[in-house]
Amino acid sequence: GFPKQVRLVDVAPRDGLQNEPDAIATDTKLELIDRLANAGLRHIEAASFVSPKWVPQMADHREVMTRLQRRPGVTYSALTPNLKGLENALECGVDEVAVFGAASEAFSKKNINCTIAESLERFTPVLERAQQAGIRVRGYVSCVLGCPYEGEIAPARVAEVSKALFDMGCFEVSLGDTIGTGTPLKAKRMLEAVARDIPMDRLAAHFHDTYGQALANLYAVLEEGVAVIDSSVAGLGGCPYAKGAAGNVASEDVAYLLNGLGIEHGIDLDTLAATGDWITRTIGRPNRSKAGVALAAN
Ligand code: HMG
Ligand code: MG
Repeated sequence: GFPKQVRLVDVAPRDGLQNEPDAIATDTKLELIDRLANAGLRHIEAASFVSPKWVPQMADHREVMTRLQRRPGVTYSALTPNLKGLENALECGVDEVAVFGAASEAFSKKNINCTIAESLERFTPVLERAQQAGIRVRGYVSCVLGCPYEGEIAPARVAEVSKALFDMGCFEVSLGDTIGTGTPLKAKRMLEAVARDIPMDRLAAHFHDTYGQALANLYAVLEEGVAVIDSSVAGLGGCPYAKGAAGNVASEDVAYLLNGLGIEHGIDLDTLAATGDWITRTIGRPNRSKAGVALAAN
């Protein structure tokens, strides 16, 4: 059944901005992070300690992580694909990190330049080092409902990679519909396969909205008990190594849906909508949150 409460992870400062072609001022990123916290977000993916050659937009990761206005009770996390990224993130006082793998070999190669097996080997020392430092590690699995290079991905494959990350010590596994091709029944079947090995309260849904299915897919997995949702204010986002992938499901739309379902989330929807309005005006992007646009017009 539905959870009583959902934890929202806003990934806009990272997933939402990583694919922007023009430089975005570090101050804009910092203001976005602070506005999200002010709207009630308690988990914010603030930066990505990846190679600046691969993702130039995230090159100011050190500055973002050290300068952000820390608020008590808020977790500011970052992506760390390898030990180098982790060491840098730790130096900057990161609260939580994430490794990111994929259920598709082809995507793994394009995104992190190694096979799935190699990625798992690379993550092992990252988890060990993070554990030493007392930092939790989240594990992402990309392409859980389809791959831009391989097409269909079997739920068993998603379950296998998810289990490997969980067994390695990831406290939570976030299931990424990277290119947003999923539909609700597929999402439900995929989740059921993963949840055979991993407790439901350790799973998160990370759905992109390319085909307009993200909210429907979320409804399907909420019904199964998923209680952690990744979303992005104003629906910003896309992956540079998944051409054509649109943004994440909009945080405002998710909060509106949860309100209707009577599920607690702790977000002030009006403040969040104002944040979506502000960031899209500031970076010159359309606001992809329908609830956000409706609320900002009031
Ligand atoms: P590589 O080229 O195979 O790595 O990249 P390497 O170890 O051979 O290093 C090459 C160069 O990168 C060296 O510099 C390293 O120092 C540097 P050089 O000697 O040439 O000057 N380097 C780094 N610099 C800064 N930070 C680091 C780092 N590591 C190496 N951490 C690597 C491998 C993983 C680094 C690269 O492929 C990479 O950065 N990939 C990131 C791709 C990415 O960020 N994709 C988007 C995020 S994933 C996503 O969006 C999906 C998600 O949202 C879920 C979903 O929707 O499905 C999470
Ligand atoms: Mg993503």
